[in-house]
Order: sequence, then C-alpha cells, then structure tokens
Amino acid sequence: MRSLSLSLLALAATLSPVHATRRWRDKVSHAVFFGDSFTDQSRSHSIDNGTYPGRYYETIYPPDDPAANGRVAWPRYFGLQTGLPYENYAVGGAVCSHELTPGFTVPAVSGGQLAWFVQYHVLANATHNQPPKLDIRGSETLAIVWIGTNDLGAHSLLAPNPREGSSFWPNAPPLSPAVPPIAPGNDNATTMLDLVDCQLGSLWKLWDYGVRNFLVLSTIPLHLTPLYSITDEPTIYWPEPHDGASWHRQMFQNANSLNDLMRVSIRDAQKEMSRKGGRIEFFDTYKFFQELYISPQNYFNGTAPVNVTGHCRQCPNATWTMCGIGDCTWEERDSFMWWDELHPSEQTGRLLAKEIAKKLDGTSVY
Ligand SMILES: *[C@@H]1O[C@H](CO)[C@@H](O)[C@H](O)[C@H]1NC(C)=O
Ligand SMILES: *[C@@H]1O[C@H](CO)[C@@H](O)[C@H](O)[C@H]1NC(C)=O
Ligand SMILES: *[C@@H]1O[C@H](CO)[C@@H](O)[C@H](O)[C@H]1NC(C)=O
Ligand SMILES: *[C@@H]1O[C@H](CO)[C@@H](O)[C@H](O)[C@H]1NC(C)=O
Ligand SMILES: *[C@@H]1O[C@H](CO)[C@@H](O)[C@H](O)[C@H]1NC(C)=O
Ligand SMILES: *[C@@H]1O[C@H](CO)[C@@H](O)[C@H](O)[C@H]1NC(C)=O
Repeated sequence: MRSLSLSLLALAATLSPVHATRRWRDKVSHAVFFGDSFTDQSRSHSIDNGTYPGRYYETIYPPDDPAANGRVAWPRYFGLQTGLPYENYAVGGAVCSHELTPGFTVPAVSGGQLAWFVQYHVLANATHNQPPKLDIRGSETLAIVWIGTNDLGAHSLLAPNPREGSSFWPNAPPLSPAVPPIAPGNDNATTMLDLVDCQLGSLWKLWDYGVRNFLVLSTIPLHLTPLYSITDEPTIYWPEPHDGASWHRQMFQNANSLNDLMRVSIRDAQKEMSRKGGRIEFFDTYKFFQELYISPQNYFNGTAPVNVTGHCRQCPNATWTMCGIGDCTWEERDSFMWWDELHPSEQTGRLLAKEIAKKLDGTSVY
C-alpha cells in the first residue's frame, strides 16, 4: 500500500517549519475534532458502555466521566479559549485507518469518526440524485485532526502482535491481527506514507462535503512519554519486559519521520486548497511538547515540584485493578506533564488549547 502521491524529491528542500502567519479565527464559526484518547472526552466510554454514540450523543464531562487524562480533555479548554462551538468525534484507542493498523477496533478517523460527521451534518438527497451538502457553513467550519499515537505505537507499527490471539486486558477483544506482515512482495505492509495519505485523504473527504478549514496536529515526541522512555520494566500499557532502549530510539525516528512527511504533504495541500478557497495548517505539537519538557517551570503549577518524566496516575505492578493506589494528590496534579505513562495531563491540555487558540490568531510559533 505504499503510496506514490508524495514527492520525496521535494522533501529535502521543504523541511523548514510551516508557521501560521495570518489571523484565521474570524473566518471560523464551528470546530470539529477527530482523533484518539489525547482528544476524546467520553466516546470510548460510551462504546464500552454499550451505548454506541449515535446521532444525538452528547459529550459527558467530569465528574460523570473523566477523560483519559483523568479529567477534562483539551477540546473543552479550546472552546473556552476561543468561544467557538465544537463537536468532538475523537475516540480513545483510535487510529487513522483499520486497513493500515487493524489491531484497534474503535471507530477510526477515516472510518467511523468521519461517518459520525456525515450522520450529523451531511444532508444526502439520494432520491433526487443531488450532491450531499452540509447543514453548517463549510467555509466557516474548522476540522482539527490529531492522530498517530496509536498508529505508531506498541500494539501497532512499533510492536505488532504482542500476544497472538490474546489480549492484555480482560473483556477486550484480541489485538490481533495487527498490521499486515512485512514480507517480500507484500505491498500491503503499512508504511509511514500510508499513514500520511490516510490523514490527508480524510481531510479531502471532508473537503468534498464542503469543509474548508483544517488544522493537523503533529505527533508528539512520543519517545519522551514514560511509556517509550528507556526502561525495560513492564508498564500498564505493555505489562511485559521489553527492550526499552530500542523502543525509545525507534519512537524518536517514527515520530520524526511521520511528522516530516506530514509537513511536506500539508505544504502541497496548502497550495491546492488555498487556490480553491480553503486553508490547511500544520501545528507542530512535537516542538510545543518539547518546549514544555525542556522548560516545565514556565508551564506547570501544581504544589509538587514540576515533573516531566514521571506521571500522576499510578498502577502498581502494572496491574489495572491497582490503578489509583499512590496517585499524586489533587493539588499536585498540575505539576505533571503526563497523567499516566502515555497521556498528557490536564494542565498540558490546557496549555495546548491556549496555544491552538493562538494558532488561530496567527500568533503561535508552532
Ligand atoms: C454509561 O452508562 C451509564 C448508565 O446507563 C450512563 O449513566 C453514563 O452516562 C454512560 N457513560 C457514557 C460515557 O456514555
Ligand atoms: C431533495 O431534492 C428535491 C428536488 O431538488 C427537493 O424538492 C427536496 O425537498 C429535497 N429533499 C431534501 C430532504 O432535501
Ligand atoms: C494484499 O493485497 C492483495 C491485493 O492487492 C490481496 O489479494 C491480499 O490478500 C492482501 N494480503 C494481505 C496479507 O492483506
Ligand atoms: C494551573 O494553571 C491553570 C491555567 O493554565 C489553571 O486553570 C489551574 O487551576 C492552575 N492549577 C493550579 C493547581 O493552580
Ligand atoms: C516524578 O514523578 C515520579 C512519579 O511518577 C516520581 O517517582 C519522581 O520522583 C518524580 N520526579 C521528580 C523530579 O519529582
Ligand atoms: C507489587 O509486587 C511486589 C512483588 O511481587 C509486592 O511485594 C508488592 O506488594 C506489590 N505491590 C502492590 C501495591 O500490590
């Protein structure tokens, strides 16, 4: 499935950062989010509940339902910062496409999440053969996409098929088959370019429905998360010994490769979309998270010393039933960059929301 749509020759010449230079906020009146647990508030829990989120599903906020960061996911802070109404279709555990990284079964960005948007906003007039049209102003709708963590992660491209046919977690379907096997002559094996094409392809589908504004958040420096740090110890998301040093190196490469390819493809898409009256921007989440990591004293404000290597949430002996034993206190939690081994903390989410609002104002350096 390796794609040829991207010109690799263009790569070396265009790796300089893409920055928003113009104010954008005034043109946008409505935002929709697509993504994974970094963005999801309550959809994955609704699916776990058996109450599959349908046409009228309302996001459920804490205290009734905490997100994967232990509390409020960043879209709500984005809404408060910008005053924009928004909908959140992100689902914890999601990838861009099940065809590329099929181990994960929750609605993918290119699949079920797009389908929700269509269900909500696209009026089809099949009987009269009219083209589908939006019930909101596409020219003022901003789609925000942040995906890649699970696609690149353990259980997927990094380390597929951890335990063939069985799951780490009770009551969860087996994480198998994972990605198509790498074998001579097998063009189905998933590459970074496939992930890029999937993200861009999903945006072009939204374009076809009339959406004209897009913001793509890059993958974070995944090698800085506790999960992909240099440790061989079992963790809650991979409760078995593993070669931590090798994972750490590989994650550095994977996150950077995907991001650089995204940056170049978005530059191409920028030209095409702006010619046709649309807009797409790249947000360098990688660089932004690196800044939080390097200068945490400027950003984290709980009562504990700032902490970018550990995490508030504790699951002793990598056992789910023990999660919560030894957590940081409520007052300490805003000192942490990470909530658990993989998820950014709520304070990191607040900071991200603020920076994305700046991006819309044309004043972010990321
Ligand atoms: C899960 O189901 C319970 C009971 O029906 C309901 O109160 C709760 O809001 C649901 N949670 C989500 C996230 O849908
Ligand atoms: C479908 O199109 C026809 C003809 O243009 C129109 O009369 C009808 O109201 C449309 N129905 C919907 C649901 O938009
Ligand atoms: C790979 O794709 C071919 C079609 O191009 C298909 O026949 C084959 O079953 C696929 N193999 C795997 C392992 O998905
Ligand atoms: C930390 O700062 C955020 C604003 O960035 C604020 O909402 C939060 O309440 C602060 N946390 C603490 C513990 O003071
Ligand atoms: C950071 O938090 C972890 C808990 O995950 C703790 O073990 C560690 O000592 C903390 N580091 C600092 C510098 O406070
Ligand atoms: C974790 O495992 C160790 C060794 O088996 C044990 O001594 C310890 O009590 C366990 N911790 C908890 C919180 O159960």
